[in-house]
Amino acid sequence: MTAAPVPTDLHPSADDITGDVLRGLSQDPKRLPSKYFYDQRGSELFEAITRLPEYYLTRVETALLAERGAEIADAVGPRAHVVEPGSGSGRKTRLLLGALRDPVAYTPIDLARDALSAGAQRLQAAFPAIEVLPVIADFTRPVPLPRPARDARSVLVFFPGSTLGNFTRDEAVDLLRALRTTMGDGGAALLGLDLEKDPAVVEAAYNDAAGVTAEFTLNLLRRLNRDVGSDFDLGAFAHRARYIADEGRIVTTLESLRDQVVTVAGRRFAFARGEQMQVEQSQKYTDARIADIAAGAGLRVVAAWNDLRDWFGLRLLRPA
Ligand code: AVJ
Repeated sequence: MTAAPVPTDLHPSADDITGDVLRGLSQDPKRLPSKYFYDQRGSELFEAITRLPEYYLTRVETALLAERGAEIADAVGPRAHVVEPGSGSGRKTRLLLGALRDPVAYTPIDLARDALSAGAQRLQAAFPAIEVLPVIADFTRPVPLPRPARDARSVLVFFPGSTLGNFTRDEAVDLLRALRTTMGDGGAALLGLDLEKDPAVVEAAYNDAAGVTAEFTLNLLRRLNRDVGSDFDLGAFAHRARYIADEGRIVTTLESLRDQVVTVAGRRFAFARGEQMQVEQSQKYTDARIADIAAGAGLRVVAAWNDLRDWFGLRLLRPA
């Protein structure tokens, strides 16, 4: 058995889930932050989403990484220190690390120590020659990286899954600017981005026939009931996801099915029947939109890989 990598703890301030939720509910229209979807059950439901026939994103991106790995390795160059904001299931990370030439180190960055350590240990067991150096930190801020025992030639930030699409345009620019600082002048970022396509295909991906996405959305309320102290009635809200074609984004809301009052951390919030509370947005990208966000963060696109249908893209960005 491989020794467990010990995370470097940069002592980030913990998420203020109650404050974030109360602030969101005080806005008009009401909203809830999508980063709180991923408790234990939420993470399991998201894994189930990635296996749904309608949810093409994970399958297409995984196939891209598997098929274009050699080209990606050429563009990145040898002896990279790979840095991953957030710790996912690890499948895509293993494909990337397996394709790169002589990668030196791997640093997952997350606020959650337990998820970070578990993922780091699995990765270390799969790649004994790579130094796994997890960091407990907030990846939306610049993160000083641990120095591997063997010198790395460059830093590669890996941000797959079109997770960037959950951020607004301005938040995405701020996040990329922080990642640009983390990677340094000689660094790069490999982003996985869902591309604009037939609205029916996109809409189906967020309205699956089996209802798993609806369960995933409603689980946010279950999580808040437990962790914030609220009395959302899960039967009185419904998942709605619609594609706003001219903005190229899916907006997911919870619709209040009746007039009701919900108590959240001791405060009361009135919902009207039919009221839509926004819980997530999933941006779909054009090359123009990617170039705009990159430029805003002091980056530029230097290489691009799409699947044959142009449904999903990998983009390599470097400091401009
Ligand atoms: C993991 C954030 C990329 O927005 O497509 C899937 C989350 N939400 N189905 C996405 C999600 C509903 C997913 N991301």
